[in-house]
Amino acid sequence: MRRISLRSIRLALCALAALLLLACLQVVFSGSLPSMPRSTPGGWPAFGGQRSEAENVLTRIPTGSEIGTPKGVNNDDNNYKYQTEAKLRQLTACMARGDCHPNAENVVIFATTHCFWAVFNNYVGGEGVWCNGMIDSLERQGYTVLVGKDDWSYVAHIYRQIPDMVKVIIGDDRPGSRFGRPHDYFRSEKRPDGIPTWKYFRFYYFSTPTGTVISNYWCVSAEIEWRTVGMPNYRNGTYLGYALEPPEETHTVPWAQRPNRAYILGKRVQYFYKWRDEPLIPADYITRAYHEMRKEIPDFEFVGGFIDDRTPKEKEELGEWKVPEGVRQLGKMNPTEFDDAVANSKAMVGIGWPATSPSPYRAIARGVPFLNPHTMHPHSKNEKPETWAFVQHDSIRYEAPPRVYQVEANNYDSFITALRAAMTTPSEPYIIPRLKREALDERMRNFVHHDWRSEAQRILTNRKNGKESEVGLGLGMFEM
Ligand SMILES: *[C@@H]1O[C@H](CO)[C@@H](O)[C@H](O)[C@H]1NC(C)=O
Repeated sequence: MRRISLRSIRLALCALAALLLLACLQVVFSGSLPSMPRSTPGGWPAFGGQRSEAENVLTRIPTGSEIGTPKGVNNDDNNYKYQTEAKLRQLTACMARGDCHPNAENVVIFATTHCFWAVFNNYVGGEGVWCNGMIDSLERQGYTVLVGKDDWSYVAHIYRQIPDMVKVIIGDDRPGSRFGRPHDYFRSEKRPDGIPTWKYFRFYYFSTPTGTVISNYWCVSAEIEWRTVGMPNYRNGTYLGYALEPPEETHTVPWAQRPNRAYILGKRVQYFYKWRDEPLIPADYITRAYHEMRKEIPDFEFVGGFIDDRTPKEKEELGEWKVPEGVRQLGKMNPTEFDDAVANSKAMVGIGWPATSPSPYRAIARGVPFLNPHTMHPHSKNEKPETWAFVQHDSIRYEAPPRVYQVEANNYDSFITALRAAMTTPSEPYIIPRLKREALDERMRNFVHHDWRSEAQRILTNRKNGKESEVGLGLGMFEM
């Protein structure tokens, strides 16, 4: 008996809460709020005057860091839905008041795990940097950004409610993903409310874009292809990329005031040894170069922050791996500490891995040149970057000293010559033009507003007529 009565009290309380919620929805949409609120830098209008707690609850957007799920926190992992739905209520409210940012009704959905981690788990690996860059740029320009994880059923559910407002969806397509794949939700005769194939863009970090069924052009990348229009094997992907902080926000150290040290790129001690791949600059080169440089520059040293995250089995089989002699271990650093450690160096040394990370750009922006190793084919020529095989940072293979020194892999002379030149040649901070905020913002605007529909229609019509205009691996028929 007691139990039942408690339950009915709870039910009554719930009903009351629901009524309250309805009442405040009424307030939000009745236009009775003070008019013309201020605009915030993010593009979302701030409310003027008094707001009730309930209005706050409904229209405030919880940020990723507030509702993220760090290890050991037992919130459910639906925070992307929580934030997305708040954004849609916020959008409804500003539309009802007529004071949305002019771009707010253009919605971009991110359906990738990496962007989900970046927003909710503070993930700052390369893909995280890229996600944050694109999202910041879009929000800076007033666009509405929704994060749907790679939860395609949820993304389709959101899309279905606001199909015209969703301009583009950037997402993962991974066989075997527990959330299914994008084409499971594409519009078709049988699924008329599905996502149009041409609104979906494959999320792919590297500069070797591989697109969708339509074309490589439907693949967005963090890195620009080094091949340019007209070159054989040009893939014609869509470069979006990210931006660096503008110069006034970049902490730099004048060349003459920097200690005589070279920063070795890479967070794993494994990169010095044959692990998943061979290093391009082996560990013994580092030690040898250290002793050689010390004869010329007595306080010369290599520094870097390395961890050994091999599996226990690998550690047992391969034994202990240490940083080579001549490298001072700085340990694990946060992003600011990393930037400071780099800014206080005269060179950043690539030893092969990680490939294509944001770090060389951050170094160059601080006036710290990057030593960029490449392997050779038998026919490769050092003075012809287009003939090289693997390049650690592919898209800067054409850059030259004093910003980038191209180094031949497994060639000690090439390595020590570049290192010596970098350590003795002053270099000024430099931001590669495509990494400027304005450049990124322009790319993102063009991307959102491009007429993808007509482009796809043209390709499809050609294809149906037996004319293939596109580059890509899995090209095929699709429905508009
Ligand atoms: C890249 O592909 C798009 C889409 O088909 C096309 O409009 C554009 O002309 C292509 N660019 C080049 C350089 O091939």
